[in-house]
Amino acid sequence: MGTPYLIISLFLFSALLSNAAQTPPAVLDTDGNTVQGGVKYVIVPVQPSQGGGLDLASTATGNQTCPKSVVQVAPKAAGNSVTFFPVNPKDAVRNGTDLNVQFSGSNAGCPESTLWQIAHDPENTDVTQYVLSGGDKGNPSFSTARSWFMILKTKNGYKFKFCPVSLCDCNPVCQDIGIKVENGHRRLVVDLRLTPLEVNFKKA
Ligand SMILES: *[C@@H]1O[C@H](CO)[C@@H](O)[C@H](O)[C@H]1NC(C)=O
Repeated sequence: MGTPYLIISLFLFSALLSNAAQTPPAVLDTDGNTVQGGVKYVIVPVQPSQGGGLDLASTATGNQTCPKSVVQVAPKAAGNSVTFFPVNPKDAVRNGTDLNVQFSGSNAGCPESTLWQIAHDPENTDVTQYVLSGGDKGNPSFSTARSWFMILKTKNGYKFKFCPVSLCDCNPVCQDIGIKVENGHRRLVVDLRLTPLEVNFKKA
């Protein structure tokens, strides 16, 4: 093959690559369909022996019961369904793109929203970044950065990550979300040292 052809082939190949980079693969549900924004899904753990789906629970000791924490419920229990809202809420849910996560049920007894958020400033690595209720929907910016999560493909399913680097103009924590067991609660925490919680999404 002559040099001009090689150069043209390389050019076409890199154009293909950059096009692929612009549209990450869609996240698929347990039926193999694209996970859509604004639709309810039940979160199904890949390893069901330790815990079931996800829900909000009061985990604080003493009188302080709000905001609630996002927890993994008991094995075999379905928990509460969630709805994903990508930056454009009508978009499909795609690997590694920013989205809000909202529980379908009410936040009984607490004034906060049922949207997920991390507990502290998105750049703060000195504290435990629990996932809590009370997040903000939409308006991607530094002030809403705590409420943006992403879903990434794993070997047997998907994991959640906190890393709103493309929309907060900051240097966020950027780590996978795992389970930290505390006082009998399996709490979701943004922490590199934990094994990421591996899940799938079943249309509710
Ligand atoms: C999903 O996104 C992550 C982070 O951008 C990337 O490392 C990974 O290769 C992507 N997986 C797929 C299947 O596209």
